[in-house]
Amino acid sequence: MTRTNALILGMLAWLLPAASGQSIQYNASKKIWLLNSQTSSYAIGVKADGSLRHLYWGAPLWRMDDIASPVDRRELSSFDPPEMLENDEYPGWGGTRYYEPSVKIVRENGNRDLVLRYASHQIRGNELDIELKDIRDDIRVTLHYRVYPEYGILRRSSTVRNATARPIVVESAQSAVWHMPPGEGYRLSYLNGRWAAETQLVREPIHPGDKVLESRKGHTSHNFNPWFAIDTGDADEEHGRVWFGALAWSGNWRFTVEQTPYRQVRVTGGYNTFDFAYPLKPGESLDTPAFYGGFSERGFGAASRALHNLERAEILPGGLTSRLRPVLYNSWEATTFNVNEAGQRELADKAAKLGVELFVMDDGWFGARNDDHAGLGDWFVNPKKFPQGLKSLIDHVNGLGMDFGLWVEPEMVNANSDLYRAHPDWVMNFPDRPRSELRNQMVLNLARSDVKEYIFGVLDKLATENNIRYFKWDMNRPFSEPGWPEVAPADQRKLWVEYDRNLYEILDRLRAKHPKLEIESCSGGGGRVDLEILKRVEEVWASDNTEAFDRLRIQEGFSQAYTAKIMSAWVTDVPNQNGRSTSLAYRFLVAMQGALGIGSNLNRFSAADTELATRMIATYKRIRATVQGGDLYRLSSPRTEDLTANQYVAADGRQSVLFAFRHSQQYNTAPPTILLRGLDERAIYKVELVTGRLAETQTEFSGAYLMRAGLNLTLRGDYDAAAVILERM
Ligand code: GLA
Repeated sequence: MTRTNALILGMLAWLLPAASGQSIQYNASKKIWLLNSQTSSYAIGVKADGSLRHLYWGAPLWRMDDIASPVDRRELSSFDPPEMLENDEYPGWGGTRYYEPSVKIVRENGNRDLVLRYASHQIRGNELDIELKDIRDDIRVTLHYRVYPEYGILRRSSTVRNATARPIVVESAQSAVWHMPPGEGYRLSYLNGRWAAETQLVREPIHPGDKVLESRKGHTSHNFNPWFAIDTGDADEEHGRVWFGALAWSGNWRFTVEQTPYRQVRVTGGYNTFDFAYPLKPGESLDTPAFYGGFSERGFGAASRALHNLERAEILPGGLTSRLRPVLYNSWEATTFNVNEAGQRELADKAAKLGVELFVMDDGWFGARNDDHAGLGDWFVNPKKFPQGLKSLIDHVNGLGMDFGLWVEPEMVNANSDLYRAHPDWVMNFPDRPRSELRNQMVLNLARSDVKEYIFGVLDKLATENNIRYFKWDMNRPFSEPGWPEVAPADQRKLWVEYDRNLYEILDRLRAKHPKLEIESCSGGGGRVDLEILKRVEEVWASDNTEAFDRLRIQEGFSQAYTAKIMSAWVTDVPNQNGRSTSLAYRFLVAMQGALGIGSNLNRFSAADTELATRMIATYKRIRATVQGGDLYRLSSPRTEDLTANQYVAADGRQSVLFAFRHSQQYNTAPPTILLRGLDERAIYKVELVTGRLAETQTEFSGAYLMRAGLNLTLRGDYDAAAVILERM
């Protein structure tokens, strides 16, 4: 066989299993599984004693014979037992294991030792279940794997089952542990922040010991988002090995990133162990959240694109058949609580003229809601502000050709509300302890089924009685005093899990009953964004910070994990929160990189503003399939450069859009030439300016030229911006 033939056969061997649906192979004599996608492989094996070992995660392998069965490691010393040197695929806390366990339990009699061994497995297409069992009793853990062959991504989760005759309590239940190849010098990327400064990308070396990323707040939180990437220390947007993961859970979560003294680097993630205790009666089980993990050999850019593709095809409601996000108007920043029918009608008239497709009324329309001191919980229309109910406004909005959306914050209650006066026990609380308020509000205990039914009921009624296309579902504070006094003390901490399960159930039931209803997840900005809520919402509000320059970094971090399609981004008025003013064109170009919305006070728009906004919205409609559904290339980062540049390439390759922002020019220096990516080098592209100035004298270039010689834009002074559309000729 020639070398070329061997190479082709070799390539086919690993492409074919994925293409023919055989992404999971099992070698019975070696007891090894190989899970293959087009860009990654993952291998697990059973040791002679029945314990399950992680063997490989990285670039694709095709030859099962290359992978050796796991063997016993020798004890290095009495202080370094073999269990510490091996990569357990899903370690129970028991025996001589001192690192982060994947599952920890306590039996009724206080016995806490759990040592898991292989029991059985099942392969169904792209899915694999491996069942483990304790060496002595019938505590079982099933590990679930699902391969997404086309995205290089694996979904993992586990089910802990008490098949004994006595109760147990689960003290830690992790979705998965992800092992890097043995080595040192790895680097961790994660998303850190706070309110109005979410998803700031941090990159730092991984050191010996544990690094914990988590939320203890009851939502995913503004502080850390449940996403990570690990690279070998030298990756960039286009090059290098990157392992990444995203947890699908909207409540308390935790990642423990460990580097051991034995060249092991791993990430364990799932339910936060903080305040966690989940009792299981005989026969009961606990499912852990899905943890998606992937590998890219082509840097952080390909890692993000894999997640974006997965989200659009497999996570978001309707998948690839769902509609592109409409252009939205929301008056929150313009009117705050001061909403009424006349004012909203006036804004709706103006929004419709600009080309807006979805008109959303924000906070202030219900109960006694004139500021944030009262009304939350009372989801009936304020008769003073809307004497004719919502119908008249909605008819008006619909008559203008726009859909109508409404802000709600169903999980919350003000002390000054009819709901709280009637049901003070519905709030999560510890009896005889203070009930902490934040923004003057408390959190309803959604783990209770009566609260769940109440919330479903009010939203269902609103959606049934009114032509509401969209709920902006807000959650404006974290949990505190998370007590559930109505259930037995041993069951009270189930709240951390049941709350979110009921949240998901409400969203699922609402969507099933109102199939056209769309939902936005907001939590004071980006406080609740993860792959599980994304199965039930079309958009998320990335941040309450709408200042365009700040947004560039928030959006850069956001895009590491999440597609632009879900990223609601508004154009708002200046000077903004931090006092900065940028041009309207600059603000549009920043917001046009997500699902475009307008949050300006349209009553203050000049004729020139209106003209520009109308033109930008029309342009956005031309490019939104590319922005929302295409490939994102982050060409230049606001963290490190004076230039932010992002390029989107349509799925069919016909269109590409480049956005560029100059932060602060010094010494009359020209901005760097921008080398484009993802184009067809043989094709010719026509370059059309959206706004800004092109330094080039011609407008037609080959893909080769644009990617190798690059494009020059004239960007001068402070906060200058430009965008170009490239159409393949
Ligand atoms: C939160 C949201 C805002 C707005 C206000 C209303 O802060 O993030 O967009 O809806 O609540 O109170």
